[in-house]
Amino acid sequence: MNIFAHRGLSAYYPENTMLAFSKCLDLNIYGIEFDVQKSKDNQLVIIHDEKVDRTYKASGYVKNFTLKELQSLDPVMKGYENREDCKIPTLEEVLTLFKPTDFVINIELKNSKVKYKNLEKDVIKLIKKFKMEKRVILSSFCLKSIIKCNKINSKIETSYLVDKLTYTLRLKTKIFSKIKRYNCSAIHPSFELINKDFVKKAHRKNLKINSYTVDDLEIFQELTNLKVDGIFTNYPNIFPSILD
Ligand code: G3P
Repeated sequence: MNIFAHRGLSAYYPENTMLAFSKCLDLNIYGIEFDVQKSKDNQLVIIHDEKVDRTYKASGYVKNFTLKELQSLDPVMKGYENREDCKIPTLEEVLTLFKPTDFVINIELKNSKVKYKNLEKDVIKLIKKFKMEKRVILSSFCLKSIIKCNKINSKIETSYLVDKLTYTLRLKTKIFSKIKRYNCSAIHPSFELINKDFVKKAHRKNLKINSYTVDDLEIFQELTNLKVDGIFTNYPNIFPSILD
């Protein structure tokens, strides 16, 4: 079972920050997951929600702040104000941190609600600059974005993120063929969608299954028994020792 740190060591530190990421460097895990969006001045920034409100002491859409403005914000989590490593990082900063490691990097393109111009193109350009094409998985809830990524660079692995709503709205059996047709190497479903049948269908199409967000031991055990390939967890410090 491959363990991905979901937004860094986010159960303990402000999510998607250099602090939360650097706390993962010594962990015995497979990879790291984070979310990318764009600032008003077209910079690639790492933050989950389309609005800053939940995680930072400000209000408004990420797309309406310049990078300088975004990086002046303090996190909502108490005790982490006025710290450089708890500001909103750029994709470049995060890739610089992980370049010397052997972590697999899962970059989620956040473009379902806000459509960022050239998000796929700019992210891929930077991955190429860092020569990290072989270590990155690009994922998105937006199938169009996956298709774009594959058109721009078919060598970088892609994965389609699936929530309950999407899964039940689409024909369950067809979703796997569709994803495969779009050249994805994996499917990233919410854990509640996974059962024996789901695993059989995905694996029959040679799709890896990396499931989000697994913080519960019983669910982890269940997914391990079902032979799920990986999980995203906010507790990447705990699950590797359970595996041992
Ligand atoms: O990429 C895995 C997981 O993070 C997807 O869900 O809502 O956290 O972006 P969400």
